[in-house]
Amino acid sequence: MKTLTVSEKMAQAQDFLPLLGTDYIELYVSNAKQAAHYYKTAFGFQSLAYAGLETGRRDSESYVVQQGKIRLILTSPLKGNTEIGRHIDEHGDGVKHIALWVDDARAAYEAVVKRGASSYYEPRVEEDEYGKVITAGINLYGETKHIFVERTEYGGVFFPGFTKWETRYNPAPTGLKYVDHMVANVELGEMNKWVDFYENVMGFSQILSFDDKDISTEYSALMSKVMSNGNGRIKFPINEPAPGLKKSQVDEYLEFYGTAGVQHIAVATDNIVETVRDLRDRGVEFLRVPATYYDTLLDRVGEIDEDIEPLKELGVLVDRDDEGYLLQIFTKTVQARPTMFFEIIQRKGAQSFGKGNFKALFEALEREQANRGNL
Ligand code: FE2
Repeated sequence: MKTLTVSEKMAQAQDFLPLLGTDYIELYVSNAKQAAHYYKTAFGFQSLAYAGLETGRRDSESYVVQQGKIRLILTSPLKGNTEIGRHIDEHGDGVKHIALWVDDARAAYEAVVKRGASSYYEPRVEEDEYGKVITAGINLYGETKHIFVERTEYGGVFFPGFTKWETRYNPAPTGLKYVDHMVANVELGEMNKWVDFYENVMGFSQILSFDDKDISTEYSALMSKVMSNGNGRIKFPINEPAPGLKKSQVDEYLEFYGTAGVQHIAVATDNIVETVRDLRDRGVEFLRVPATYYDTLLDRVGEIDEDIEPLKELGVLVDRDDEGYLLQIFTKTVQARPTMFFEIIQRKGAQSFGKGNFKALFEALEREQANRGNL
């Protein structure tokens, strides 16, 4: 039987929801005001909306920043003994809500609950003078949640309850366009449970899988399966640790996050060289592979449009599959704990995830882990 391409496998998903895209990603962070400044300064996000004491909220505040179609909500508690505060105490800064944009939030919620999703909250209507937004939530791995967002009848800046966030400080964007994929780290033995969840409950299909033979270095190993919805706009690779000589990167994450959660957010650009140069100059730190990676690059990936020198200078990685190639690079972790990081990706036909780079990349990651005394 002919092996299907990733695109062909995506088309097999039963897109009954359907999902139009990632609406927002909400992170619980210990200092939302400063985190928003970091995402603006370092990553080029733009100020979008704010909710807090001035808008009638009493116990938390949120800053919303946007770049292209990527929206981050950064939320902190305003007092002690809150649920958000407990979350931050246990996990540090991290992704709490992955919001998915739908045409009908009630129908999406009812369909997935009927298929076995556990409810986080029932459909809720929020209104202000600009219209209404309907949301509903379901539980995921660890303390992470999916929110369905229906905003067909909303004309405001972001959500009811938020006001436009205007500021004199508006650093230029860095060319980030949309969320390409978001990766989960789950506990040993839990990967297939979440693969089944995305397949049976959400109607996704499995487009790729990697085992410890693909993803193994001298020290550590992991297994991964990639789930996609039918239109390919929502892709969730799910990792679990595999037994290795020493502690794997997934184990380190689980130890410091305290449970399963989002390991990285991959964001797409149309010009990775310009974007990464800009990010680097603004203080974003990237994982580096050895310079020898570039000696054999063209033998491995064939002809590419880009010059090798800037890729080498910046540490951008390249991989090819049967549909084209991709360029990618990974930041170091972006908060106090060694948990979440970002990937910058530019796809030129390839719909896969850079399997050819795993070894070099994971060795770079393990050097960081060793520096932290966690290998
Ligand atoms: Fe990735």
